[in-house]
Amino acid sequence: MISTPICDFIDRYAAREPVRMHMPGHKGRALTGCEWADITEIGGADSLYAPGGIIRESEKNAARLFGAGQTLYSTEGSSQCIRAMCYLAMLAFAEKAPGVRPAILAGRNAHKAFLTAAALLDFDVVWLYPENSAYSLCRCDLSPGALSAALERTPNGAAVYVTSPDYLGNCADIKALALAAHEKGVPLLVDNAHGAYQAFLQENRHPMALGADLCCDSAHKTLPVLTGGAYLHIGRGAGPVFYSGAREGMALFGSTSPSYLILRSLDQANRDLAGDYPERLGALAEALEGMKGRLRARGWGFAGDEPLKVTLETKAFGYTGPEAAACLEKEGVVCEYADPDYLVLMPAAESSGEDLRRAEGALAVLQRRPALGMGPPGLCVPERVMPIREAILSPRAVLPAGQAVGRVCGGLPVACPPAVSPVVPGERIGRETAGICRYYGIESITVVK
Ligand SMILES: Cc1ncc(COP(=O)(O)O)c(C=O)c1O
Repeated sequence: MISTPICDFIDRYAAREPVRMHMPGHKGRALTGCEWADITEIGGADSLYAPGGIIRESEKNAARLFGAGQTLYSTEGSSQCIRAMCYLAMLAFAEKAPGVRPAILAGRNAHKAFLTAAALLDFDVVWLYPENSAYSLCRCDLSPGALSAALERTPNGAAVYVTSPDYLGNCADIKALALAAHEKGVPLLVDNAHGAYQAFLQENRHPMALGADLCCDSAHKTLPVLTGGAYLHIGRGAGPVFYSGAREGMALFGSTSPSYLILRSLDQANRDLAGDYPERLGALAEALEGMKGRLRARGWGFAGDEPLKVTLETKAFGYTGPEAAACLEKEGVVCEYADPDYLVLMPAAESSGEDLRRAEGALAVLQRRPALGMGPPGLCVPERVMPIREAILSPRAVLPAGQAVGRVCGGLPVACPPAVSPVVPGERIGRETAGICRYYGIESITVVK
């Protein structure tokens, strides 16, 4: 059986009922009930940013389970890992091309953590715009051919960064994109925040199995892990700088007080993943296929190809996403995400058969209505005026989206979720872009003064 060294240490420690003359201030006494396990980096508890004991052992277990060359735990979500991945790309590029200003080629549906990384690390971004004909803020289909061409045009390309799966459950062809990037000697970084579970599908679809050099997984999004728990995985074939610099990269963006509740949860998850998790996951994927089939027969259509997401195309059924979400909420079903076009349900292996029946039952309450004709606005490519860092650090003002037309974006105009921005800092806000912001519920934009 796989070891759970962090759980074992905390259990033994709490059982001794020691006088806790160390942080945290609650001293292990119950306020919410979990304080007994909430320790700090005391002797024997190892240290997240210089591990050599129980954390290291637990991370090694995780690396084996995910097929990674190395796995590092994050207690601050994929957001921390994304910044660390970009830092590592900078480090590798500085060795390859000293003195050259680096750029990362990134799918335009990047989460805002990537934009904060660009601001903090001051690299340029070459945006890869979606090749799908139907525009949606979250979706950015990329072909290996277009990626090769973009790499050809970008001699200072330090890395390729893609988001897969996206918030709607669209998955990129990671294998083909990795080949295209590697052909040009550039590493592939994958935001796999939504796809940790893919390593445990019958056919392993995790980026580590498909050739990515680095990827992050929000364990907490799809696995039985506390919020904040995430992994930074390094691919077996990744360059040596990624291995030697990873810990420092994580420390650069992390708190010096990592949560042992989250570490314990990541440790415990290893045992679950090594146990019957794959069978439970397979059963869920099958049950969801059945559910989608029955809903299709009632007229529902779905977006995305990720097996654990149920992404309903609500407009064809006569509802906006938020209208459908409100109907489900009345039936006691709370969804993950809704935008004008889609409603996203995110079950997990922990969802019970009864949970799925209730979700399907709540959808059955919705009566089909005439389709809503209005689609999302078309794709718009804003003009770049200054680097992201310069814009973020400029004096700023907040304006209603309509009044921001013609101004340069100075902040992150995102609704969260999905924390994807129609316009990024340093870009001029055109009339169409302001329209896209309003379409996605972004009413005000920070502009450079
Ligand atoms: C695509 C994507 N990437 C990254 C993140 C950040 O993940 P975390 O919340 O674990 O920091 C999110 C969060 O929702 C996300 O949707």
